[in-house]
Amino acid sequence: KEAKLWGGRFEEGVTDAVERFTESISFDKALYKHDIMGSKAHASMLAKQGLISSDDRDSIIEGLTEIQRRIENGEFEWRTDREDVHMNIEAALTDSIGEAAKKLHTARSRNDQVLTDFRLWCRDAIDAILARIKHLQVSLVRLALKNEGLIVPGYTHLQRAQPVLLQHLLLAFVEQLERDSGRLLDCKERLNFCPLGACALAGTGLPIDRFMTSDALGFTAPMRNSIDAVSDRDFVLEFLSANSITAIHLSRLGEEWKKNPDPMELVRGKSARVVGDLVTLLMLCKGLPLAYNRDLQEDKEPVFDSVKTILGMLEVSAEFSQNITFNKERIQKALPAGHLDATTLADYLVKKGVPFRTSHDIVGRAVAVCISKMCQLRELSLDELRSLNPVVRHGWSECVASQLDHWVTKLEIAKGG
Ligand code: ARG
Repeated sequence: KEAKLWGGRFEEGVTDAVERFTESISFDKALYKHDIMGSKAHASMLAKQGLISSDDRDSIIEGLTEIQRRIENGEFEWRTDREDVHMNIEAALTDSIGEAAKKLHTARSRNDQVLTDFRLWCRDAIDAILARIKHLQVSLVRLALKNEGLIVPGYTHLQRAQPVLLQHLLLAFVEQLERDSGRLLDCKERLNFCPLGACALAGTGLPIDRFMTSDALGFTAPMRNSIDAVSDRDFVLEFLSANSITAIHLSRLGEEWKKNPDPMELVRGKSARVVGDLVTLLMLCKGLPLAYNRDLQEDKEPVFDSVKTILGMLEVSAEFSQNITFNKERIQKALPAGHLDATTLADYLVKKGVPFRTSHDIVGRAVAVCISKMCQLRELSLDELRSLNPVVRHGWSECVASQLDHWVTKLEIAKGG
């Protein structure tokens, strides 16, 4: 059996049960690309600082490129006895280039390495989610454009309350999604700081250049406090919180469709996983002392799951909204039920100078008459009532049109397309 990379001072190997229990390679191999990226930046920095030779740097970088190629072609053997992604790659590098590889881990610990990988991974994941959110927004705005003028019942307390433009309703979801993007952008800005150089927790006495690695990896700056750098998981808590809110929005969107809703029911169902992933991480971090603790290895799977799930939810919701059509006839027939024009009538009386409480009362009595006569408000004999047209006068239609313009411009949607 191969000796553990970290096993120098331990005489006995671990049992198979412990090996199986503690490995993370089965899931953290997802970080391979970012791990290699981080190692290349680290090797370049070590060479610039004179900590390794430029020949060593070159063979490390070439070796890592070759490993990446092998991984991507499915030729790489991931070994459980090498525990995690960092040690699998480092050991494979040693197998292929020999001594130079043993210098790569100078002035670095897996503690700062794993967080560098993870922050880079989350940064990319956020970009992917942002793109899908935008795609869903575009699909919803297109759906709104396609259904110009369609009036549907708007609900409060699960009861038909007022007629609204379908566009008005769809754009409400577009607004929610915009705030979801905003939260992810905030999160990305806050997580984009580089932990490299924190090493195990206390930094290093070797003359490294943290700004160089931070720059090379596209981070805003190195993290200020090395103990914080290896302890912090609030960037993932924030990320999963943002995903949870998005998931809840999608779940509510899923709730709106009443026919053939199977995929949208699953969108609603999967929102539970995303929230569950957040709760797992909150519980994981609760009560952990500073700095790195092995518990923290459990931070990956909930994040991977949350991202995979939210991406799927966004994709399916967008596909669904691209393909949905509305049965205008049925909607038209259903509209009068529930006296949806009551508010419009009340407002109309207010415009005629009737105090609102009085008009509310009058309309209430008018509705009561309708109920006993089993007719609609607009079927009542008064001329004013008959002339009422529900939505067109309620003042929101212009407002909805300007909202629609706002989103068409912002999301760069070609009108009529
Ligand atoms: N696989 C570990 C993780 O994901 C890497 C860090 C291990 N560090 C340690 N001191 N055991 O957290």
